[in-house]
Amino acid sequence: MSDPDQHARALAAEAAANNDATGWFERLYAEAEAGTAAVPWDSRVPHPLLVEWADAVELHGHGEPALVIGCGYGDDAEFAAARGFEVTAFDVSPSAIAGVRARFPGSAVHYVAADLFELPEAWRQAYQLVVEIFTVQALPVRLREAAVAAICETVAPGGRLIVIQRWRPDGPVPEGPPWPLTRADIELFTANGLTAEQVEMLPDADGVSARWRAEFRRDAAR
Ligand SMILES: C[S@@+](CC[C@H](N)C(=O)[O-])C[C@H]1O[C@@H](n2cnc3c(N)ncnc32)[C@H](O)[C@@H]1O
Repeated sequence: MSDPDQHARALAAEAAANNDATGWFERLYAEAEAGTAAVPWDSRVPHPLLVEWADAVELHGHGEPALVIGCGYGDDAEFAAARGFEVTAFDVSPSAIAGVRARFPGSAVHYVAADLFELPEAWRQAYQLVVEIFTVQALPVRLREAAVAAICETVAPGGRLIVIQRWRPDGPVPEGPPWPLTRADIELFTANGLTAEQVEMLPDADGVSARWRAEFRRDAAR
């Protein structure tokens, strides 16, 4: 099996050449389900920065609706469900959704194949918690504003959005994926009716790279 990162990049480059920004995800997950490739971001644990944040804010859903964007194999969705949310989690890849359903057969999470750019009308401002980890950075920069707007649009009045992405400094866009986010990129989340509660730039252990962890809120309806 080839290096998972290199293979994912090769699939992404092929898709980009065909002007298809998202088709490679399904190819990769289909290969993974067939046992011929590995998904590089498949960590099998909820993201540690999500867990740390949830502990810090004493996150508990009390049955409120939550949405997990680009859920992949579901670790963050299962984590939100364990914290008391009624979770819907979606991914553009039907094979990812088949894989996550097989992985958690008795799950309370509603896993569904859906495209961020064509979300159901019923999801509009419907979720008290929205979790976005690494989907925006996995999409080409030309789709960034639309991706951010679509994510923001799902946050209910009074709801919160937690975003975790790789950081990058200002300057030329690197060859991705991923395409990490600048400060201006992370601020895009406030151009869509949300306000920033907390924006952290957290250095990685290597002292060179870093992650954004940012929490946004939509004002409660008056
Ligand atoms: C880098 S992975 C991150 C997966 C997961 N959030 C995690 O942190 O492990 C990006 C995910 O977004 C999904 N994705 C990409 N474009 C999407 C779109 N337009 N709509 C829904 N999901 C999408 C991919 O299939 C993939 O599972």
